[in-house]
Amino acid sequence: MTETKKQEWNSNLAFMMAMIGSAVGLGNIWRFPNVLYSNGGGSFMIPYIVSLFLLGISFVLVEYAVGFKFKKSIARILFSIKEKLEPIAWLILLIVFLITTYYVCVVGWDFIYIMLSFTKAWGANPDLYFANNVLHATDSVSGIFTIVPNVLVSVFVIWFIAWAIIRRDLNDGIGKVSQILLPLLCLIVVGIVIFSLTLPGASIGYTQIFTPDWSALTNLDVWLAAFGQIVFSLSLGMAIAMTYASYLPDGSKLVDNAIIVAFSNSGFEVFNSIGIFSILGFMALTSGIPFNELVTEGTGLAFVVFPQVFNIMGPAAYVVGPLFFICILFAGITSVIALLEGVCYSISEKFLIERKKTATVVCIIGFLISCIFATGIGSTILGVFDAYLNNFALLFAVLLECIIFGWIYKFDDLIDTLNQHSSIKVGKTWKAVIKYILPICIGGLWIQGIYSTISTADGLSISIMGILTVVLIVVPIIFAKLPAINKNYYKVEN
Ligand code: PFF
Repeated sequence: MTETKKQEWNSNLAFMMAMIGSAVGLGNIWRFPNVLYSNGGGSFMIPYIVSLFLLGISFVLVEYAVGFKFKKSIARILFSIKEKLEPIAWLILLIVFLITTYYVCVVGWDFIYIMLSFTKAWGANPDLYFANNVLHATDSVSGIFTIVPNVLVSVFVIWFIAWAIIRRDLNDGIGKVSQILLPLLCLIVVGIVIFSLTLPGASIGYTQIFTPDWSALTNLDVWLAAFGQIVFSLSLGMAIAMTYASYLPDGSKLVDNAIIVAFSNSGFEVFNSIGIFSILGFMALTSGIPFNELVTEGTGLAFVVFPQVFNIMGPAAYVVGPLFFICILFAGITSVIALLEGVCYSISEKFLIERKKTATVVCIIGFLISCIFATGIGSTILGVFDAYLNNFALLFAVLLECIIFGWIYKFDDLIDTLNQHSSIKVGKTWKAVIKYILPICIGGLWIQGIYSTISTADGLSISIMGILTVVLIVVPIIFAKLPAINKNYYKVEN
């Protein structure tokens, strides 16, 4: 069997929209306002902007340069750099794949909320409704044997949609879908923000975003939260930018593209937060609860606080509610397909399996794993997956990539690649950031991640994390050891 034809974006717009679509996701709509809120609003903005430049743009540039230079899957790229590095590529892909399995489930919950929002079916107690009627949550381990049918069906629907997109040709699938969903998403968000600014009490909320608290600059936790948000929101270290950049035709502008993508992603989340904070301001005014006591629980913002807000909003909620949840759905889908693309690309390149077949197998396995989250104890397990994979495994992946590309690979080649393909040039500062500053910052974040994950873990969480650790060690080694069917895979050209 010979290698299949190289895939290529048919326009720069398709690439940019896919990149922005991959970055804009639940992290922007559901996570960012939460992080902003729990880190004191305006005080968070300065560390956030510094992280965007220092960590976000710098690291995206590494992924762009590597993907564009090698034009291969991450597994083959790391193999070309050093044979022994191949398991790390599979480790990164496995982390990404496992993240996708629970990310799909959160998008699935959102899918349920689209239906519920037409009638405000959550009633007067959205928090109880979420736990009892949507998740059917139990704390007992035996909950693993009870399937929650509505969550299972919605998880299936999201996997099915992802499969239907990803199995198609690059431009027909990801390219087209991103170009349709992203403008729609922006339109809805603009509508929601304009509406929310007209609500009484809106200014109580949005002024929080723009009132910096300089004393917070000395608070390490706020800095760590800002770094963490940039990693999550820009999907750093997940090989997405690397994969998408490898499909770029020659002559593309790399640095310019990366800056537009990073600014669009951050612009989107800040703009969206103006709406969300205004709505929370409205809630503070109407309920009499002080602004900073409105949200007590992390994940609850989208599925608990918003239904509460829609309850007091009056008839407008029948339009704003469904639109809000549709937004999350669109943003989630473009991110899910991006997460899957890198995984499918590496598998199909190494084992010479057609795109369609790879997509089918990956989605079936993904769905089967996601079924765990559709059980009575599913949301608890999801919380453990999220804490372990995001705070610990993903940061470890970013750290490894910094070391591999900053120290093991000839970094100056990446500088040349970027400078030959950009109007904006990069140089020594960028090199210093990737080689020294980023590994130190991410290392700090990582240690804090381990600490917070372990210090909050109970017996069940520790067992799940133990299982995940074994899987993350064994599976990548197996994938790296399996012989490639594609004989070109072993040709080292760079
Ligand atoms: N960047 C996307 C988001 O903000 O939702 C996609 C993503 C990031 C997915 C991080 C998963 C993840 F852990």
